[in-house]
Amino acid sequence: MTGTQQTTWQDQYAARMMKSAAVPYAELVRGEGCAVWGSDGTRYLDFLAGIAVNALGHAHPAFVDAVSRQAATLAHVSNYFATPPQLALAERLLRISGADRVYFGNSGAEAIEAAIKLARRTGRPRILALEASFHGRTMGSLSLTGKPALRAPFEPLLPGVEHVPATIDALEAALGPDVAALVVEPIQGEAGVIDLPPGYLEAARRLTREHGALLILDEIQTGAGRTGTWFAFQQHDILPDAVAFAKGVGGGFPIGGLLAFGEAAELFTAGQHGSTFGGNPLATATADAVLAEIERAGLLDNAARRGAQLRDALSAMPGVAEVRGRGLLIGVGLDGPHATAVFRTALDHGLIVNAPNDATIRLAPPLIVGDAEIDEFLTLFPRALEAAS
Ligand SMILES: Cc1ncc(COP(=O)(O)O)c(C=O)c1O
Repeated sequence: MTGTQQTTWQDQYAARMMKSAAVPYAELVRGEGCAVWGSDGTRYLDFLAGIAVNALGHAHPAFVDAVSRQAATLAHVSNYFATPPQLALAERLLRISGADRVYFGNSGAEAIEAAIKLARRTGRPRILALEASFHGRTMGSLSLTGKPALRAPFEPLLPGVEHVPATIDALEAALGPDVAALVVEPIQGEAGVIDLPPGYLEAARRLTREHGALLILDEIQTGAGRTGTWFAFQQHDILPDAVAFAKGVGGGFPIGGLLAFGEAAELFTAGQHGSTFGGNPLATATADAVLAEIERAGLLDNAARRGAQLRDALSAMPGVAEVRGRGLLIGVGLDGPHATAVFRTALDHGLIVNAPNDATIRLAPPLIVGDAEIDEFLTLFPRALEAAS
């Protein structure tokens, strides 16, 4: 092998991948439960779960079995045909959400695209979204995203979208007969796990109804049991018109979609929306198995209980100024703008978390997280905090 040059994975990434993302910090090769391993042999405790995706952790037997079995049975057929897994997942999602109909796509951004098209079907031109929100990177979902730095390089975006502060007064002032929908995350995940003001969702429900506008919730990050209920809205006394889902529903298999309630469920007519892969048997069989396992193993309760346990411990930790979020979607507000340093030192200590902004660490561990992993986290995280400050 003389004369061949060893290139690192970093070199390969930098040379071959589109420049839309920075070179990552590690290359991962394997996962099991709440741990993943790097190509250099390092073991990491995964308290991010692929950004709130791996609900059952890594290589869970229920996930592996569903993918393997369905791949060996019928993987894809196009949406000219129905399949049993698609219908089974539809039935399960309607049961756990209370919705009347579901649309299947492949990602969070696509779920939001479906929501935008649903809103357009009202015939009204304006859509309201919140400042600092994150709804995805496609042109439609980016139009709803309230982060100017992400939007600016791609303007002009979709016309008719307005970003309002997350206050009931601002919503009241913005609503009118030309508003098709308000799109809102029950907890703003990418903004730094920011809770909505108390009573906001209830007021949004009342006000949108008064003005004949749809209330569309983006539960892409908060759904699939992450906050301790199947969907975060179920901790409020409301029914939305539509709910966008993705991430944890597939537990690692790409899937997304839109649940619709009441009259909103009747807005699309045949041929108005679709996707080649949307609702394919491989994705839907896997998602159905993931949700069945969340139910069977009592992971909603686990998310609520472990979340409370983590919140209590974090609140008493030196260097932590504030703890936000619900269940196992946790925003750790630091006492200074050193979140990136904490993220890096955590990685050096064998712990995966992330820093959605300068002063916040986001935790979104798998819903299967147990005593051993919480103990390990409570050993590693204070060390990372201390080393970074
Ligand atoms: C609330 C929310 N909406 C939409 C998206 C976009 O989902 P995806 O990355 O699957 O397109 C995300 C992704 O982080 C999200 O957190």
